[in-house]
Amino acid sequence: MHHAMEAWSERYGPVFRFRIGPRTIVGIADPTLIGTMLKDRPDGFRRTRLLEATFREMGICGVFAANGAAWRAQRKMVMAAFDTRHVKNYFPFMARVTERFYRRWADHARRGVAFDLQADLMRYTVDVVAGLAFGEDVNTIESDGETIQTHLNHVFPMLMRRLTAPFPYWRWIRLPADRALERHLAKLHAEVDELIRKARLRLERTPELRAAPTNLIEAMLVERETPGTELTDFDVASNVVTMLLAGEDTTAHTLAWLIHLVEQNRGVAHRLSEEADRVLGNLHFAERLELAASLKFTAATAHETMRLKPVAPVLILEADESKILGDVAIPRGTVVAALIRQGSRSGNHFERPADFEPQRWLDADGSGHSTSRERISMPFGAGPRICPGRNLALLEINLVTSMLFRNFEIASIRPEGGSVDEWLSFTMAPSRLWVTLRPRADTGHGTSRD
Ligand code: HEM
Repeated sequence: MHHAMEAWSERYGPVFRFRIGPRTIVGIADPTLIGTMLKDRPDGFRRTRLLEATFREMGICGVFAANGAAWRAQRKMVMAAFDTRHVKNYFPFMARVTERFYRRWADHARRGVAFDLQADLMRYTVDVVAGLAFGEDVNTIESDGETIQTHLNHVFPMLMRRLTAPFPYWRWIRLPADRALERHLAKLHAEVDELIRKARLRLERTPELRAAPTNLIEAMLVERETPGTELTDFDVASNVVTMLLAGEDTTAHTLAWLIHLVEQNRGVAHRLSEEADRVLGNLHFAERLELAASLKFTAATAHETMRLKPVAPVLILEADESKILGDVAIPRGTVVAALIRQGSRSGNHFERPADFEPQRWLDADGSGHSTSRERISMPFGAGPRICPGRNLALLEINLVTSMLFRNFEIASIRPEGGSVDEWLSFTMAPSRLWVTLRPRADTGHGTSRD
């Protein structure tokens, strides 16, 4: 679907119109107009009514799907939970999760087995988010059998299917995929209820937490009990699921794209190993926040990956007021598809736009990165609804990438189906990648014997 829209924007220009069944949609590929629209929220533009209703039917309506006053109240709590101070305090837990992940990959490398890259990365991202947002060490990295991901992984593909269905057939006929979704949603909601029960227990046992909640779930439960609050039990549960959904695929797919692109560009792989060796010294991974934060080339590689492979190449919005965008009238209720990748692949904004060149994100002295380019490449969206998890995601990417290139070499990547294609199931993933690692021979700390 996103390829078709991108091709239409090449053919018909940066603003065009198309239909899916009875629905008319306006496509916008101009980064300035997209920026204007994303900033004009929550009042000018909203998430679509269809998205909100489809999520609601699945028993979920958290900060991602909510609009208006409900969104404002939830966004405030989410922002507090993901602010830099919280992420900083949480770092020791992230380091523990990264160490477990290192051990898992060292074991794969020692045995020379090919493993499902995205499935492994999702174990990492779910463990990190559950720790930060809910104070729970779910440790799916070291679990066998069914994990919470087993249920999460059914939500986005079915959401996508229902959003693009010509009519809501599932209200009349439940196909096998709809019945499977119901089963997985029931299990997911049961796991979420358990997380909430445990957090309530913590608040009862340690009443001081009420004055200074340590994570999102505690903050939401305290707010829920505050007289006059508009937050409901449904909102609390919805936001728990939302954090798991929003934090799982996005970061895992970005890391998978990064690993795939780096494997195609051995010069970049070499520089990543060099930087990891220099910054981490004798360590297997960045055990301290300042180490992770000083991995500038690694961070540039993440930005370059997201320029070419943003996990949300299309953001769909709905005009909540009648607007003029550029010289185009957008009546209230119009659905608009923002093609965020078109600007970042255009020669008007980036030299050699098709090439994978992390260096372009670094200043001439190798420090920092260019913010003017970030206004064109918007992998985290923009404006008041910009992704609240972006700092956490960038930190996760730095931790995993440096751990990988400090300790291992990629022996092979085998895509399922023979080629690496883009699959859009609400988020854009590469084809499933089977990866074989081998310990780096030249790390100087004997990974192969650990
Ligand atoms: C590389 C990783 C990630 C990418 C590329 C990404 C991208 C995005 C994008 C494009 C949006 C829509 C923004 C907009 O409408 O302007 C978004 C929203 C959101 N993201 Fe992320 N995200 C990532 C990781 C995370 C993580 C780790 C979390 C938290 C656990 C998270 C939580 C959210 C939430 C809650 C929203 C909804 C915000 C709102 O509507 O107010 N994301 N993300």
